[in-house]
Amino acid sequence: TERTFSIIKPDATRRNLTGKVNAVIEDAGLRIVAQKRIHMSRAQAERFYEVHKERPFFGELVDFMVSAPVVVQVLEGPNAVARYREVMGATNPAQAAEGTIRKLYAESVGENSVHGSDSQENAKLEIGQFFSEAEIVG
Ligand code: GTP
Ligand code: MG
Repeated sequence: TERTFSIIKPDATRRNLTGKVNAVIEDAGLRIVAQKRIHMSRAQAERFYEVHKERPFFGELVDFMVSAPVVVQVLEGPNAVARYREVMGATNPAQAAEGTIRKLYAESVGENSVHGSDSQENAKLEIGQFFSEAEIVG
């Protein structure tokens, strides 16, 4: 079994979609083993998206991530990292496959409803930014 890190982003919390997103996650065989609703600080969002800081949309991305509460989560299951990427769908919802979270709910490439780690290494780093080991209950 493996863990990945997930964020239900502001566009989804604003539209009261956290339960619907969680239903897709659970139906896909992933278990939510930690979860909390937070309003990210600018410093937290900048640190989280540090790898994208040279990209032209970095400022917009940080503004968006601090614009409303988010739900941060740890998901567990077989091949959780790859499985969740599959369940989320393509970054751009216009290219996302049927039944994926982004196809169902995302509004644009910027406001795309969810984040999921892109590697096991990043999953560990990202989980550590928001959760202590004691908060993760498998
Ligand atoms: P995450 O799971 O959020 O990391 O998405 P991803 O891995 O599918 O995409 P990537 O890591 O390439 O980009 C990170 C995030 O930056 C995306 O999820 C979007 O929210 C945002 N983003 C990517 N491309 C654009 C863009 O062209 N414009 C804007 N405004 N945001 C973008
Ligand atoms: Mg990414």
